[in-house]
Formats: sequence, C-alpha cells, structure tokens
Amino acid sequence: MGLIDAYRRKYAFGEDYGTSDYKFGPITLGERPEIIENRGYMPDTSSIMYRIVGGEVKRVVVGPEIPLYLEAREDLTERMIYPMRNGVVDKDDKKAWDVIYEITKYGLTRFKPRDPNFKGFYVTAALSVIAPKYMYEKIFDIHERIDEETKLVKAVTIIPQPLAVAIAHKKPTCVVLESGHGNTQICPISRYPIRRAIITLNRGGGDANVITAEILKDCGYGDLVHEEKLVRMVKERIGLVPRNLDEAIKRARNEPERFRAAFKIPGTKIVIDLGENSWMRFLIGEYAFNPSHEVFESFFKRGMPRPKDVKIGDRIISGMMDMADAIIEAVQRCPVELQPYLYRDILLSGGNFAWKVPPGMEDVAVNAAEKIRLMLEEKGIENVNVILTKDPQYSVWRGCIVYSVAVPDDYEWNWDRMEGWMKFR
Ligand SMILES: Nc1ncnc2c1ncn2[C@@H]1O[C@H](COP(=O)(O)OP(=O)(O)OP(=O)(O)O)[C@@H](O)[C@H]1O
Ligand SMILES: [Mg+2]
Repeated sequence: MGLIDAYRRKYAFGEDYGTSDYKFGPITLGERPEIIENRGYMPDTSSIMYRIVGGEVKRVVVGPEIPLYLEAREDLTERMIYPMRNGVVDKDDKKAWDVIYEITKYGLTRFKPRDPNFKGFYVTAALSVIAPKYMYEKIFDIHERIDEETKLVKAVTIIPQPLAVAIAHKKPTCVVLESGHGNTQICPISRYPIRRAIITLNRGGGDANVITAEILKDCGYGDLVHEEKLVRMVKERIGLVPRNLDEAIKRARNEPERFRAAFKIPGTKIVIDLGENSWMRFLIGEYAFNPSHEVFESFFKRGMPRPKDVKIGDRIISGMMDMADAIIEAVQRCPVELQPYLYRDILLSGGNFAWKVPPGMEDVAVNAAEKIRLMLEEKGIENVNVILTKDPQYSVWRGCIVYSVAVPDDYEWNWDRMEGWMKFR
C-alpha cells in the first residue's frame, strides 16, 4: 500500500446532500455521520441589535446555531432557506447555493484535523440520481472556493446517491431504492446507474408526515400540526407498516389496547393518545408504500394534497405509484437478460425505510424489506432478496466513505464517465 493510499484512507470524507438533512463527516466517525438540517437562516443584519451587541455579522447561519438567531418576526419563513426540492437546487437560486456553500464549509471545518501532515480531505459528495450537470459544476466550484479559503479539500468527487448505497454493500448488480424525506429514487444498477431505467417518485417521508398531520387533526390535536418537527416525531413514534392493511385495521379495532398509540412528547407536557382511533397508525406506514390504497380516498376528498407527479425528460411519473409497481417498471426498462439479476438484490436505503416493528406486533406490522417483498409477491415477482440497509438514513454517507477509499488517487475526474477525482491544486 502506497503512502498516498494510506493518506486517503485516513482522510476520506463523505457528504450526503439530502433534501431535509445534510449528512457529513470523515471516516473516523465510523458508523454514523454528523447531521445538520439542510437549511440556512439569513438574519436581518440591518437590525439595531447587531450594532449594539456587536460580534460577527453572519449573512447565512447554518447548523445548531440557527435557533439562537431566530428573530421574533413574522417573516421567519422568508429568511429560512431550504435550498433543495426533491434533491435538486435551482440553477440560478443564489440564496440556495449560498446555503449549500455554508453547510459544506461548516461540515469540513468542523472536522479540521490537527495533524501537521494533513493536506486536505478526499471528499466524496453524493447527489440525487436526477441531479443535473450544473449541480455537479456548482458543487465542484463550492469545494474549490472552500479549499482556497481553508486548504481542507485535497480532491473531490461526486456520485449519485443510489450508487453510493450499492457500493457500500458491494453489490455491482442490484436495484437500489433510496427513499428520503422528499423523494424516492428507484435505480437499477449494473456497475453504474442505468439512466433510462431510473424512476423517481415525488414521495418520501414528508408525505408520511402529511397523513400523520391529518390523523392528528382527526383525533383532536389540530393545534400541534403546524410544527413539522413535532409531526415528524409523532410519525416516527407511532407509525406502523402493516403486513396487510385491511387485516391490520380489523385487528387493531378489535384489540385497541394492544395497538394503542399513546406517548408523551419529551421535554413537554403534551401527551398524544389516539385512543380508539389507534388503528390509524397503520395508515401512516401504508401510505409511504402505497398511497393509492382506497382508504386514502376520503383524506384526499377532504383536501389532503396528493404526492405530486414528477416529469423526467418527457416522462411523467405519478407520485401515487406503489413501490412494487415502481420497481417492476424500472426493471422492465432494463435488458431482459439482466432482469432476474436485478430482482435478486433489492437494497432499501433512506430514512423513509426506517420503520420499526415494536416487540409483540410482528404478526401485523413489518419492516420495509418485508413489506416490499410482500408487495412484489402479490404481483407475481418471487424469489427476490430485499435487503434493508443497516441504519438506512446513513447508508449513502457510508458509501461515500467507501468510495473515497477505493478510487485511486491518479484517477482524475472525467466529464464523460462522470468519475474520478477533481483536484484544484
Ligand atoms: N424510524 C423512522 N420511521 C419512519 N420514518 C423515519 C424514521 N427515521 C427517519 N424517518 C424519516 O426519514 C426521512 C429522512 O430521511 P433521509 O435522511 O434519508 O432524507 P433526506 O436524505 O434528507 O432526503 P432526500 O433523500 O429525499 O433528499 C424523514 O422524513 C424522517 O421522518
Ligand atoms: Mg437522502
């Protein structure tokens, strides 16, 4: 092993740009990256308080400091910038790119080593598989600027998120489902993502929050639904994925105590208790996998927004498509000979697959892998191997680290192959 390889192993760095969260950090973190929200706050620097209190005037604030800057103002939503929609930043959205620059710089400087031999990280950044080329250019530019300012970036490369997952699991041929907060990427892979086969659904954990909010309203907790964070917490605590929705609802109605959804929100006096409506917790999990189930019609009729369609090239993909149909459609766009191999390994990653099965509920509730297996089986696709990645929220980041270690130092970035290291010095 050469000196360069040893260095790269030591200073591999991963960056996963998610719509809701930015996950980042060096190889030394081990299993889990550090996480901040993918957002920035632009304080009103003309405020008189700034002049009186003094201190550094920050144009964009990111990370755990944000709450300290929040002003008691109505225009909060205007000043809080969420730069991505479904994994994509608009090309000319200057404020959004400023936020991406700040979170990137925040992440790298936070892990600046003391080692005098440190010459910068080998950074692998992961973007949505539908990220356009200008995003690659901008992400490179941002790293170049940060390197000029800090000398923290020795080399940088960019890979699509599903590919990072396949790499982390050493599966060159597989289908990766990456379901985060904003969207779900269904990506057949044979060494590299098979572009023409990629399906992206405009649906993710955020949509499960939407139905959770409706359920909270129906159960008399309407005053709580304005805080997205709280709704998300409720969803993660009480949401269950049913083996079979109709069966689960029947069971939960017959045994309300066993399935009761009740808990106190930590650090507050608020207790949420769905009582005899506790069967509704199964709607939350089902919705993530199959929002076109008929039980959801009544919610749509009462005004709940449907997951939106998405246009990729000249194709329109319905946000309502169930996950098994989406897998089948993606695989069928691949060469027939390859199809059986693709079904053989289906990898699930992303926080929207992290659904838990509470002990004692295994007969009615399932994890994401079992749900997908059952859904495919129902459509006649058998003998599939569905693998739920460990800590699915972090598998993209882990793949970035593996990639940083694996790509040889002298392999330079190539725009045709979209591979290799980009270096600025
Ligand atoms: N235990 C859990 N049960 C259900 N949902 C969960 C759980 N843990 C996390 N989630 C959901 O996963 C989503 C976040 O996932 P992830 O971090 O993969 O998204 P992201 O990378 O920010 O977004 P995207 O990949 O869409 O750009 C949130 O909606 C969150 O509520
Ligand atoms: Mg993600």
